[in-house]
Amino acid sequence: MSDVVAFDPLSPAQRADPFPVYAAARRDAPVFYAPAFDLWVVARHADVLTVLKDDETYSSRNALRSSPREPLPEVRAVLAAGWPDMPIIVDSDPPLHGRIRRPITKAFTPRRVAELAPRIEAIARELLDGFAGDGEADVVERFAWPLPLRVMGELIGVPQEDLPWLHERSRDWLSLFGATGTVEEQVAAAEGTVALQRYFVAALEARAAEPRDDLMGALLAATADEAEPLTTVELAGVPLDLLVAGHVTVTRAIGSALVLLLRTPGALDELRGDPGLVAGAIEEILRLESPAQGLFRETTRDVELGGVRLPRGARLMVHFGSANRDESEFADAELYDPRRDDVGRHVAFGKGIHFCIGAPLARLELSIALPLLLERLPNLRRADDGPLAYDPIFFARGLSSLRLAWDA
Ligand code: HEM
Repeated sequence: MSDVVAFDPLSPAQRADPFPVYAAARRDAPVFYAPAFDLWVVARHADVLTVLKDDETYSSRNALRSSPREPLPEVRAVLAAGWPDMPIIVDSDPPLHGRIRRPITKAFTPRRVAELAPRIEAIARELLDGFAGDGEADVVERFAWPLPLRVMGELIGVPQEDLPWLHERSRDWLSLFGATGTVEEQVAAAEGTVALQRYFVAALEARAAEPRDDLMGALLAATADEAEPLTTVELAGVPLDLLVAGHVTVTRAIGSALVLLLRTPGALDELRGDPGLVAGAIEEILRLESPAQGLFRETTRDVELGGVRLPRGARLMVHFGSANRDESEFADAELYDPRRDDVGRHVAFGKGIHFCIGAPLARLELSIALPLLLERLPNLRRADDGPLAYDPIFFARGLSSLRLAWDA
């Protein structure tokens, strides 16, 4: 089956355009084994839903780990100085998952999200003021990174001056799951991860001593009400996870949105002319470009999926990005259509118990950012026609830079 599907998400060709490979997989080998990664890839929408809805058979432990390799001994030694078992919601199973998710749901309320709207707009305008007059810029660097990072900083309750450091440490944390790079790089990433853990443990301890009305304060109050409250260390994984999950994904969505709109004839003008299309356009961008292309699961028993027998302990990649282009689920699946009525079935935010907690905030940020970008950057176009620079991250899709030009 691996002969049919040449799956290699880090190859330059598939970073640029992975979609023909997934189309072939959906047709010929909907659940296929990729030996290089010791991974079963689940390509069809129906099978992806089966996995996401059955969290007993498909465990989320190691949901972020793209590498089949265990961390190096040098890396484990560094991590031992922090909290190697600090739980992360996205890779925990019930009952721990519920113990972590309940206080988040209580603290991260729709009201808290709605209250961020004026701040999101103010930050977006301030960032645009910084470069709109230049006529050309790397929009990923100047806008798509800083906007969601600053929004997450305000939500969680960390000082703005800490954000660049937190951004670097988030990248360290994330890179450990891919286990790529030299020993020195992996050890440095482990040191960064321990520093990030200490930062959030200290931030929560400070709030326990002196309560504050930010998300970390609300999380402490919410877990205290539970039958089995989380310890400070267990709770420290929450702001850490929210910070990472909440900024890299929205960054990718903004960059991918601009590229998709530029690539689709007439799409930018149509969106500028009809603000009523923004919500549909955002869903369509998430469906087609899926910033989280897929995450991982592990079987807890022998099971059959999509006609394939999987042994207990098999590692799976549930491929949101492929499911979202499944032609048996979406009419003209490869086409951008902000008016389509089947877009609600996309799984860009997952499904089941791990469904994205930040989906309302992500949608709010995009619904504010995209119209502002189009308003402030008229006659938007690529600044050059070189190849697009996609981030080399196994399970994500997004640009590391995007130089655009406009009429200043
Ligand atoms: C366009 C932006 C985003 C995309 C595409 C996205 C995608 C996803 C996906 C696919 C999952 C499910 C993971 C799984 O099933 O294993 C997820 C979970 C999660 N997301 Fe998002 N996300 C986005 C934005 C955000 C934001 C802004 C936040 C925080 C404010 C956030 C926080 C989380 C958390 C905490 C989880 C774990 C939930 C759980 O395990 O119960 N995400 N996200």
